[in-house]
Amino acid sequence: MYTQPIPFEPELTVKPEVVAFFDEPTNTISYIVKDPNSDACAVIDSVMDFDYASGNIAYDGADRIILHIQEHGWVLQWLIETHVHADHLSAAPYIQSKLGGKLGIGDQICVVQDTFGKIFNEGTEFQRDGSQFDRLFKDGDSYRIGTLTAHTLLTPGHTPADMVHVIGNAAFVGDTLFMPDGGSARADFPGGDARTLYQSIQRLLTLPGEMRLFMCHDYGPNGRDIRWESTVAEQRHHNIHVGHGTSEDDFVKMRENRDKTLSMPNLIIPSLQVNMRAGQLPPAGDDGKTYLKVPINGLNTSKE
Ligand SMILES: [Fe+2]
Repeated sequence: MYTQPIPFEPELTVKPEVVAFFDEPTNTISYIVKDPNSDACAVIDSVMDFDYASGNIAYDGADRIILHIQEHGWVLQWLIETHVHADHLSAAPYIQSKLGGKLGIGDQICVVQDTFGKIFNEGTEFQRDGSQFDRLFKDGDSYRIGTLTAHTLLTPGHTPADMVHVIGNAAFVGDTLFMPDGGSARADFPGGDARTLYQSIQRLLTLPGEMRLFMCHDYGPNGRDIRWESTVAEQRHHNIHVGHGTSEDDFVKMRENRDKTLSMPNLIIPSLQVNMRAGQLPPAGDDGKTYLKVPINGLNTSKE
């Protein structure tokens, strides 16, 4: 499982093409990963535009990704969610409806669906078996993007279902790590755990030093420009939360203290309800319209 050695041989000579798309309202980076030897590609962590104040949704960001794929004549084979995001809504079903491809996430999604199925008081029609997705990845699974082989690593802690996808010399880390000057993602959402996150990060950092790492988020700490690419070696040496051989206990203390100071992400309530359904909106009400719930005092993440 997630504390075990990397269960595959990294292929550093295989160099996928990576195209990044930054979503400014949520500080999310989505990626197209393209096989250099064919037209095949995958989309990782796409974003739906959601204006909470008006309840309006749009797909301008997703349309930019779709246009890029269409203009280059690429073939979309996979839509990957690194985890159930709590800060933005996925656009994967929209992109899938335009371009095809299979939608995949880690198999621990079932744990996340159970947790949030209860928090949002979902009825029995909400399946908690991951069946809304086309493929549930286990730790050490692999799948193909044209001639590329993608490998999955279970990296829980931020949420139970986080996965890193390693494709040639590129690894898409989701919210396991931020850029070295950003540190790590919070571990206080329901099902999150700082100690588990530390262990997952340690496992990720056993990948070869020159492995390229692509973040899911960047907030431009200390006023620097937004960046999303690092390497394992940079993270080992310079990450402000886990670099320089930070101990597990020190990390846990820092992470838990810091998480107590963070307010909930603006879009956590709509994001969870949509993303636990693989990016689908909840079923329409008897008036044919779609609604989201707000559980009053329902997201209490205090561990006291
Ligand atoms: Fe996240």
